[in-house]
Amino acid sequence: MRVRPVHQQDAPRATARNVGPVTGLTPLGMPAVPPPTSAPPWKQAWDAALFGPQGFFRRETPAAHFRTSAHVSPVFARALVRMTREADLDTLVDIGAGGGELLSAVHDLDPALDLLGVEVAARPAGLPDAVAWTTALPESVDGLVVANEWLDTIPCHVVEVAADGEPRVVHVDPVTGAESLGHPLSHASVPASLPTWLERWWPLDGAAPGTRAEVGTTRDAAWEDVVGRVRHGIAVAVDYGHLRADRPASGSLRSYLSGRQVEVLPDGSRDVTAHVAVDAVADRTGAVVRRQREVLRDLGVTAALPEPELATADPAGYVRALSRAGEAAELIASGGLGDFWWLVTTR
Ligand SMILES: C[S@@+](CC[C@H](N)C(=O)[O-])C[C@H]1O[C@@H](n2cnc3c(N)ncnc32)[C@H](O)[C@@H]1O
Repeated sequence: MRVRPVHQQDAPRATARNVGPVTGLTPLGMPAVPPPTSAPPWKQAWDAALFGPQGFFRRETPAAHFRTSAHVSPVFARALVRMTREADLDTLVDIGAGGGELLSAVHDLDPALDLLGVEVAARPAGLPDAVAWTTALPESVDGLVVANEWLDTIPCHVVEVAADGEPRVVHVDPVTGAESLGHPLSHASVPASLPTWLERWWPLDGAAPGTRAEVGTTRDAAWEDVVGRVRHGIAVAVDYGHLRADRPASGSLRSYLSGRQVEVLPDGSRDVTAHVAVDAVADRTGAVVRRQREVLRDLGVTAALPEPELATADPAGYVRALSRAGEAAELIASGGLGDFWWLVTTR
């Protein structure tokens, strides 16, 4: 078993362009083209902030900082159990399982399912013994693999159109958050996969200075790796994201801490996240892309209120049904979790 490090997908290209002015020296022995900044690129700083030895996700439980569908209600778990059983599968793997909330709820609903959590953080206290827990992706899976709000945490490069109209890699000081622009995308040290991806999925031609983009290569590769391990079954990535026609011109980098959106800072003190270019990921993985509200409705999730007669016939049941309806409403809400994207690949 192994987890391919998602942050090493974009090795600099090894072409003749690597022996350009970067390695040339002036007569005084200085590089002919000094690096424009000494701060790391966003991808590197973000990776260290979340997954370094003291990284945010190595210490922190997601539920202490933000609320995902897995935290809202067992209604979400029930939908995934139904999807698993309807496909005649008996295994569910949760990638980026956080505090194990989803797997605990699935276990309560269907104890016969084989469950595995894949997570860089330690096994949560109180997780049922029957739920397996590991840091490494399984080599292969026969079952349903779900990753709820995992892809948005995967660090990616950030680019910005400079004053001269040329997109450049954005660097960031991990302590202060101060940004600086690095090399243009045509530079030999910039992986060719960046401009290639942008051209297809997030074109910046003619964009005004200051326009930004988050390059989805690392997310595409990470999900392709997961989907490739599903020998027989279904892979489901659930996340917030955007389509090519609707990319955010200022990018979507965000930080969350203790339930609040805070200043974006890759210093390990807070979460760092960016929306997922879901159409690009789907293209790489043959996924069908639908909104969460549509998928959940097909899986029997409804926010319909219980019949009033139930209140007298079974008051406790009525209160439970009322609370389930409220939770379902949150999961399918427009402008909220209902707008999340489900990328479903069946193999
Ligand atoms: C935004 S949280 C979502 C947690 C959970 N899925 C939920 O819905 O509440 C993302 C989780 O993915 C985990 N994660 C990120 N990259 C990972 C990797 N390569 N391997 C294992 N876990 C990872 C993080 O540690 C974090 O717990």
